[in-house]
Amino acid sequence: MAGGQVEIVSLTKRFGDVVAVDGIDLHIPSGEFFSIVGPSGCGKTTTLRMVAGFEEPNSGRIVLDGVDMQHTPPYRRNVNTVFQAYMIFPHLTVFDNVAFGLRRRHVAKGEIRQRVGEILEMVQLGHLAARKPSQLSGGQQQRVALARALVLNPAVLLLDEPLGALDAKLRKQLQLELKSLQQQVGITFIYVTHDQEEALTMSDRIAVMSDGHVEQVAPPREIYDEPATRFVADFLGVSNLLHAVAEGPDGAGVRLRLGEEFRLLARAGDVALRGAVTCLLRPERVELDAYEQEGPNRLPGIVERVVFLGHSVQVLVRLAVGEPVAALIPNTGEAIPYGQGSAVQVHLPADALRVLGPSAQPRATDSGAGTGAASPGGAADGAQPEAKSRATAAASTGAAGDTTIGEEK
Ligand SMILES: Nc1ncnc2c1ncn2[C@@H]1O[C@H](COP(=O)(O)OP(=O)(O)OP(=O)(O)O)[C@@H](O)[C@H]1O
Ligand SMILES: [Mg+2]
Repeated sequence: MAGGQVEIVSLTKRFGDVVAVDGIDLHIPSGEFFSIVGPSGCGKTTTLRMVAGFEEPNSGRIVLDGVDMQHTPPYRRNVNTVFQAYMIFPHLTVFDNVAFGLRRRHVAKGEIRQRVGEILEMVQLGHLAARKPSQLSGGQQQRVALARALVLNPAVLLLDEPLGALDAKLRKQLQLELKSLQQQVGITFIYVTHDQEEALTMSDRIAVMSDGHVEQVAPPREIYDEPATRFVADFLGVSNLLHAVAEGPDGAGVRLRLGEEFRLLARAGDVALRGAVTCLLRPERVELDAYEQEGPNRLPGIVERVVFLGHSVQVLVRLAVGEPVAALIPNTGEAIPYGQGSAVQVHLPADALRVLGPSAQPRATDSGAGTGAASPGGAADGAQPEAKSRATAAASTGAAGDTTIGEEK
């Protein structure tokens, strides 16, 4: 299906003093599976609600297939939304729930039968068409919600944590189903999730948001391998983040100082930066050598812990400069020669050392400076506020759902 191109230009939304969305730009081509990830409260739902038309921007534009949506009410936008709470009618059968929107649009009976039948087959609910929602599992109810949205042939489908209420196994299964369904129907998906792994698995491109800003937009592999900022690296659960001072150029790279005496060369990332920087290094790229084996890009350290993971062994080393580094060594069947307490040389290859820029908008208060190396920062820090704003979000999406249902034609 053609269409479904979404342009978001300098979009801003304020709630009193809170800037929920702070001038974001996103260009989403037709048929893309586009995900928005970020910690609780960063503005994901607010962004979706503005695209759907449930929330009016303070400034900026939303352009759907070349048409500015400023004066287009939600029910006239060729957009449909699936929320975490399923928003299906308990008193209607599966068939009638899915047919609901078509009946409101006065579609002919025969066509309704055909379209609902097709969609129910697509989401594997054909055999349950006569059931009521209370007779369905959570995953089946979520499929009904999906079918309800898809049957109206929107150009864009907005999904706000649609799998959030499901258990891990069902969630994994539905991720794959959703992805193949999206490819089948060719509709643009804008998919909001907390779960970075989910986004990495399903998306064509991902936007990482923080505090109303977009930190980076890129395909999954690029987001993972080449995070543009420390925030993105941290959010994706990268374990090795080192503090260093970028001193000056060195060939195609940059010379870094760690602590007072240690020097490293980095060739990846933003090698033009100077001053205090953060360096990223994947555990699978860290090499361990015998302590006597000094050389370039090697730092002395002490093994603190060796963890057997099956396919690999994780060795946690405390560098002489005080920072921790994790190395992941493939399990080849041979014993690791470095036990707890061994002194080692930690080799950090220059081409794998990535210099990261600061966040788009460093936070004045908590995590800006404080998303410590190797700390699972976001998740732990966010635990408290998350629960709170989650309740708010649930309440507000509830209202939105009612609007959808009430306004469908
Ligand atoms: N109706 C509202 N009134 C006041 N503040 C709001 C309203 N809706 C959202 N906010 C605030 O705007 C910010 C962004 O909220 P939003 O719901 O977009 O976050 P989110 O990224 O979807 O978070 P979550 O992952 O918890 O769903 C938060 O600080 C939230 O408290
Ligand atoms: Mg939300």
